[in-house]
Amino acid sequence: MPTLETTDYVSTMAQVPTPVTVVTTVDATGRRWGFTAGSFTSLSLDPPLVLVCPAKTASCHQAFVSGDRFLVNVLAAQHADVASNFARSGHDKFADSGMEPCELGLPGLPDATARIACTLHDVLDGGDHSILVGRVEAVSVTGGAPLVYHNRSFTRPAAGMAMASSPS
Ligand SMILES: Cc1cc2nc3c(=O)[nH]c(=O)nc-3n(C[C@H](O)[C@H](O)[C@H](O)COP(=O)(O)O)c2cc1C
Repeated sequence: MPTLETTDYVSTMAQVPTPVTVVTTVDATGRRWGFTAGSFTSLSLDPPLVLVCPAKTASCHQAFVSGDRFLVNVLAAQHADVASNFARSGHDKFADSGMEPCELGLPGLPDATARIACTLHDVLDGGDHSILVGRVEAVSVTGGAPLVYHNRSFTRPAAGMAMASSPS
């Protein structure tokens, strides 16, 4: 088996486009927590499950794995500054963030492309990350163009670039 260089792994995964989300929760004391996450994806239709992966080193990690619910904000193209804000540790991320109480009473962006509100279904081990499995309880869609992360940059799908052929 060839030895995989960490730099090769990281630079290869940088080529995989991801959504840009900000995932929020509120702990038992009422404190709000949130982080920018590209690891969000759907998992199951029946039951409706999604997953997102906070690093075990993140200061918000304990709040998410011991919480009972979380809200995924799928960021819109105009939200690059929000993504940068919630990716930076050690400051009040919620000050001037545009977040308001939304589904399940959790902080959300009114103009997010979509919001997916979950109760915590399971927490799985994922190496240096935890895998939060959420059961979807409520959704909201504005349908605005999403923000995408690719090659270490924020980008957006080009308007009018939908392919003639789509999966059916
Ligand atoms: C585009 C993008 C995607 C990210 N995705 C994740 C992710 O899926 N999981 C994660 O733990 N951190 C991810 N991060 C980094 C966290 O947002 C960042 O480390 C955050 O500050 C951690 O939360 P903390 O401030 O509570 O420590 C991502 C950052 C960016 C810019």
